[in-house]
Amino acid sequence: MSLSRLASAPPNDAVGKVRLQVTRKRLLAEGVCGLELTSPECARLPDWTPGSHIDLSLGNGLTRQYSLCGDRWDPYTYQVAVLREFESRGGSAYIHDELTEGDLVDIAGPRNNFPLAPADGYLFVAGGIGITPLLPMLEQADLLGTPWRLLYGGRRRSSMAFLDRLAAWGDRVEVCPQDESGLLDLAAVTAQPPGTKVYCCGPGPLLDAARSTAAGLPAGHLRTERFVAGVVPPPVRSTAFDVELARSGVTVTVPPGASVLDALAGAGVPVLASCRQGVCGTCETDVLAGVPDHRDSLLDEEERRRGDCFYPCVSRAASDRLVIDA
Ligand code: FES
Repeated sequence: MSLSRLASAPPNDAVGKVRLQVTRKRLLAEGVCGLELTSPECARLPDWTPGSHIDLSLGNGLTRQYSLCGDRWDPYTYQVAVLREFESRGGSAYIHDELTEGDLVDIAGPRNNFPLAPADGYLFVAGGIGITPLLPMLEQADLLGTPWRLLYGGRRRSSMAFLDRLAAWGDRVEVCPQDESGLLDLAAVTAQPPGTKVYCCGPGPLLDAARSTAAGLPAGHLRTERFVAGVVPPPVRSTAFDVELARSGVTVTVPPGASVLDALAGAGVPVLASCRQGVCGTCETDVLAGVPDHRDSLLDEEERRRGDCFYPCVSRAASDRLVIDA
């Protein structure tokens, strides 16, 4: 794990697998269903922090990541909200159409790739279902007495989940349905006093727009979380490279076209993985030497420059050799 993640991730974030039961399923908004998950044995669930997600293993063999959006002080219930994806690859459609109350699902995590760092103030920017990781952050900021504001965009009011929960915060929340007020005005991303951090989650175009708006601002000013992998350029190198495993001294050659993850597995060195798209963070691995070719959707520019960790499900090497902590 990179130093920044060690420093920012609270120590009680647990990574484990448990079997939970769907105890409540309901429609939260047009195309958005909410699930409540509890232990069939009424056991306490691992603690989590704002920004955490869980991996949900579905009965159709798929695994999907969903942000926890319920009450983090309730140790017996996890809540997630699932948008029915227009071009679902089977995950959201299964949850909407097949999963029912009483079903058992395996979950892994919680894991936090999007932790809330201390700041003098926050601007939260949500697009659609991107509201889910931000909801517990608003509550955390409130608890800490830190000023915040939320810009929440969506296609139309009826498709925007949690408006009732957000209403309690009055004019700190700006609800901007696209069919009423157009696209979110991201000028606010740069118009913040020093010490304010911006947290943004939503569809790729919103995150790209927020990133380009924030270009040139100090590192760490804007944090984003993607639910699906962003577009990445071709790999830096088109030739094979070596990955040396520092603990065993074994070297594995990664040919073009194979992922580091698959090459390691082929050599009998499995690395824990889930999304295989550079989105969930499960396969995060420390890099001890060499230059990674980062192809994930998790690290920010500063973390990429530091080059001390990478995600072998998608990332590769820019140098002839990488030495990793495995
Ligand atoms: Fe999800 Fe690598 S398996 S980031």
